[in-house]
Parts: sequence; C-alpha cells; structure tokens
Amino acid sequence: MSFADTAPNSGLRTLGDLGDVAGRRVLVRVDFNVPLQDGQVADDTRIRLVLPTLRALRERGARLLLVSHLGRPKDRDPAFSLRPVVDRLALLLAEEVALAPDLDHIPDGDLVVLENIRYEPGETKNDPQLAARLGALADAYVNDAFGSAHRAHASTEGVVHHVARSAAGLLFEREVEMLSATMSDPRRPLVAVLGGAKATDKIAVIERFLEVADAVLLGGGMGYPFLAASGRRIGNSLCDAEGLAAARRTLELPGAEKLRLAVDLVVADDFATDAARRVVNIDAEDIEDGWEALDIGPRTRAAYAHVIERAGTVFWNGPVGAFELAPFAAGTHAIADAVVATDAVTVVGGGDSIAALTKFGVEDRVTHLSTGGGASLAFVEGRPLPGVVALMRAPSDG
Ligand code: 3PG
Repeated sequence: MSFADTAPNSGLRTLGDLGDVAGRRVLVRVDFNVPLQDGQVADDTRIRLVLPTLRALRERGARLLLVSHLGRPKDRDPAFSLRPVVDRLALLLAEEVALAPDLDHIPDGDLVVLENIRYEPGETKNDPQLAARLGALADAYVNDAFGSAHRAHASTEGVVHHVARSAAGLLFEREVEMLSATMSDPRRPLVAVLGGAKATDKIAVIERFLEVADAVLLGGGMGYPFLAASGRRIGNSLCDAEGLAAARRTLELPGAEKLRLAVDLVVADDFATDAARRVVNIDAEDIEDGWEALDIGPRTRAAYAHVIERAGTVFWNGPVGAFELAPFAAGTHAIADAVVATDAVTVVGGGDSIAALTKFGVEDRVTHLSTGGGASLAFVEGRPLPGVVALMRAPSDG
C-alpha cells in the first residue's frame, strides 16, 4: 500500500531540475554511515538504497563524485576509512570504484568516492572554505543523504551555496515525501509505534504524535518511565530521573489518552541470554527489585498487533525489547510481523528497527524504509532540517 499520488509536493528541487548533466561532474552526498564488523560492511541497506539515484544520474551521462562520512573519527583514523564501503559498492555495481584519498587527489573517473569527509576538520563546522572547495569540484550537487539532513555540515548544507545547481536525490525526495505525508496527510488511523532504549531521546517525538496520531504504542525503554509515572513498580527496568520527569509531564498533555502502554512484560534477572525470565502482568502486579523488563509480553504483543492491523498508516521507530538477545526478541518480531502484514502504509525508521526487519527477513515488505535515524525523528518532530532547507525550491526557481 502506498500514499500513491496523495503525497504532497515536497517543495524540493529534484533531479529533473538539474538540467543537462551529460559529461558533467556531479557531487553526490550519500550517507554511507553504515555499521562495520571485522572491517566489513555489516548492513549495506544505506548503500543499496542510493543505487537508483546513482544509476539515474549515470544514465544521463553524469560523472559521479560520491561524498560521505563514516562514524565520528578523530583526525584521519584509518578505522573510519570508507574502503570497506567502496568495496561493497563495487560489488553491488559489479564494477570498479575508485577511492580518492582527499580533495586534492581526485582521480579522473566516472565513479569516484571521496575518503571520509569527516577527515576534514571543517566538515562538521560547516566551514565555508571547505564548502567552497567541495563546490569547486563539481558542476552540480545532489544530496541523497537524508540520514544526515539534520546536520548543517559543509557537505550537507554549506556546499549548496557554492554550486550552480543542486537537487535532492531520489531517496532523499522519497524520504521527505513519505515522512511529510505521514505527518500531514496520513491515511487514518495513524498509529505510531515507538520503542528504543531511552525515553528522553524521543519525548518530543511522542508529544508530536500525541497531536497528530490516533494511537501511540510505546515499548522497550520508551515505555518503562511511563509505566513508572503511571504508578507501576518497574524493578530495575531502564528508567532515569530525567525520563520519569519527562513521562510525568507528557502524561498531563492533551492527547495523552492516545498513549498505549504494555500490559505485560518479559522480565529477567540479568541482561543475558541465559538469565532467568518470566512474564509479569504489569497492569496488576509489580516487577520486583533485581528484575528488569526486557520485552513486551504476549498480551501486549497481541493488543499492539491488533491496533497495527486496523491502521491506515503505521510509523515505527525503535525495537520494543532487547531483540538482539533471542529470548527477548518475540515482542519486536511480533511488531515486525504485524507491520508487514497490515494493509496500511508502513514507514519504518531508525537503525535498530531496520536491523530488526533485516534480521527477520522482511525489510523489503514495508512501504518505506527510512534511512534516517536522527534525521527522521527530527523531521517528524517538525524541526527544519538544514539539509532539506538548503534544497528547497526558491520562488524564482519557477
Ligand atoms: C546517522 O547515522 O544518523 C547519520 O549518518 C548521522 O550521523 P551523525 O550522528 O554522526 O551525524
């Protein structure tokens, strides 16, 4: 199911606005900030999802210079080299991809990746000199790094002021359209499923969904402070003073009745696969000290799945349990199953939710997989994203 033609015009300049790029060098900002394991790419979702943009530009004859960050390196730490990413890209495209060591040594080629842009000290400071150097390398700029759109960095924002033509890539455009439609013109009911480790990270997101959604289902570390604030005893479950205070405030807001909290939880005496565990009906009993909740229980799974089944639009961000440990994966698995089974428009964001979908083998069965973690959340909160603002069509663009 999709929003089809109902998605609002994003207002972004798009690939069609770039004009003729045949034989021209196009600098494409991508978000190849992917997880690595033993020097190899552990999850290539972010790489695969920009391939349509790369192919579209190359079909038009453009020569591409790809720019990305990876991690948050100090100086030129080789552990943050894009080499493993370039190797994976070459495998996916079945062709050679060159890696340029720095801005002064860009080989001539149809497809070149610049080494980690955060090796440049000016990148995260949005240094105008670095932005100008980047701009001078290309005839046009395309941003397909929606995952970094909440950063005002030289390669995501500053460079736009130093190129004649700039536009959003296909992934970036779709991210903005899907998230805009979710928040401003969803098929109803709109159901938000919010999980993850820390409630304080997403309080503003919860509050925004209380305004626009029809139901907000909380799970994982997001939910425990709300259970505590509702008078439940949650033992050693994740909950700090800040989260508890935020949950108390949120429960007083208009729309708080849309919040759904777990009615049962899987608790354990340790954060470990071999921990002792049992189900606690948190609507009727306490979690004892020494025990912590690590997943939603079977009644909550069924109740949440029922709400998701009847939704018109589902936005899911964050696992509802410690799904990386097999005994505590059932809740997140149940959410994933419900999300892929519903006829609703389904929008899933956040690295952990995507990792969960991938682990359960259903990542290609949602309407939109958002590559933005922090960026998606900032967008749904309603914050202007510097990377998006920079690509907005000016009235004079026609
Ligand atoms: C992300 O993974 O959220 C983006 O690539 C942004 O990375 P950052 O938080 O290091 O800026």
